[in-house]
Order: sequence, then structure tokens, then C-alpha cells
Amino acid sequence: MSDAPIKLAVLLSGTGRTLQNLIDRITAGDLDAQISLVIGSRAGLVGLRRASDAKLMNFVVDRRDFAGVEEQCKQIFSLCDDAGVDLVCLAGWLCLLNIPEKYAGRVMNIHPSLLPGFGGKGMYGHHVHQAVLDYGCKVSGCTVHFVDADYDKGPIILQRACEVRDDDTPDTLARRVFEQETIAYPRAIELFAQNRLKITGRRVQVVGAGPVVAGQ
Ligand code: GRF
Repeated sequence: MSDAPIKLAVLLSGTGRTLQNLIDRITAGDLDAQISLVIGSRAGLVGLRRASDAKLMNFVVDRRDFAGVEEQCKQIFSLCDDAGVDLVCLAGWLCLLNIPEKYAGRVMNIHPSLLPGFGGKGMYGHHVHQAVLDYGCKVSGCTVHFVDADYDKGPIILQRACEVRDDDTPDTLARRVFEQETIAYPRAIELFAQNRLKITGRRVQVVGAGPVVAGQ
């Protein structure tokens, strides 16, 4: 990889807080990356408005406009090709992806639980936090992982934990987990950009010198 900032595509289906975090980290000089492309799964998403406000190139690729997942994904990855994207970051993206071979190991996701707990189809947003509370967990957290053909199943890159409090609601827990997400995702992207992530089967090793998360 050259010294130029890594080029990201951010795919979203919601409010884009994750996109905003990446924009803010890049603007602050904490993450050496460039968001070359934002794709939303529907028109009118708050996340797409954030992309426009930040003057980022953005498109809607709505599954309903295509014959199926394959056709939708062709469009998504052809936009990524056109923009010269190095890494695709799912940021609250709620559709399954058909990842072409050339993007294997180049698509990441962040999930708001400590996988493999509380992942899979239907486990998104407050459903995750409600399930964590119902189960009586004492810790929760977030997971950044590479994406494969299944929901929330690809090799894990980073996890960060937080406590679950007796008086938590899904909302209060979601806020505490999101604080960890704002640290974990930029860091995973940075490690990728530095070529420090080595995937062997299910295991992702962080190679080279330096801490996995700054200051720790
Ligand atoms: C977060 O919970 C993240 O873990 C999941 O989507 C949520 C963020 O969505 N992947 P958004 O960035 O607020 O749209």
C-alpha cells in the first residue's frame, strides 16, 4: 500500500452516527483515511444527509430497484471500483452482501455486541441491547469483524467491552456500547491501513509493533 490515505466506502442504512464518527476522526487528524464514497440502502436516510453535508460523494443503492442481492451487489462494488476503494466499511448497513472475490478481506463491519453472542439475522439496533439485558449479561460491548457471506460471522478484528448496569435500558446500554464503537472502528481501519491485520482462517492477528489500541 502507498503512503496516500486509504480510500474508504461507507455503507449505511440508518442515522449514520458511525459515518459521522469516521468523518470527525479524519477531520481531527486521528485517522489517516479518506471517505471516497457513501452508499445508502434507501433514499432519504439521515446518514446520507450527513454524507452530503460533509460533501462526500453518495449514492442510493436500494435492493428494491434490482432483481436480487446479486444485482444490487454488482452495483455496489462497481461504484467501489470506480472510486478506487481500498476498504468497504459497513456502518449500520442492514442487507446481506455478496462479496466479490477481489473484495474478500476488504469489507469490515461493526456490531454492537460481543460476538458470537447476540448476532445474526434480526439482531440489530435495540434488539441486540434488549436481548443482552434479558439474558442478564454483566458485560457487553462491540465487535469489529471482517464480513463474509453470513450475518455477523466473519473473523473478529477487535472487541471492546463495557459494563451492563442493573438499571440499564436498551437506550442507556446502547449509548455505553456506542462509546466503545467510536474507538474500535477507527482503530480497526487504521490497523488495516497499516497492513497489520493478518487473517488465518477465523483468526485475525495484529502484527507489527505498537499497541492494538492507542494508550493500552
Ligand atoms: C451501531 O449499533 C453499529 O454497531 C451498527 O449500527 C449502529 C450504528 O448505526 N452496525 P448508525 O451509524 O447510527 O446508522
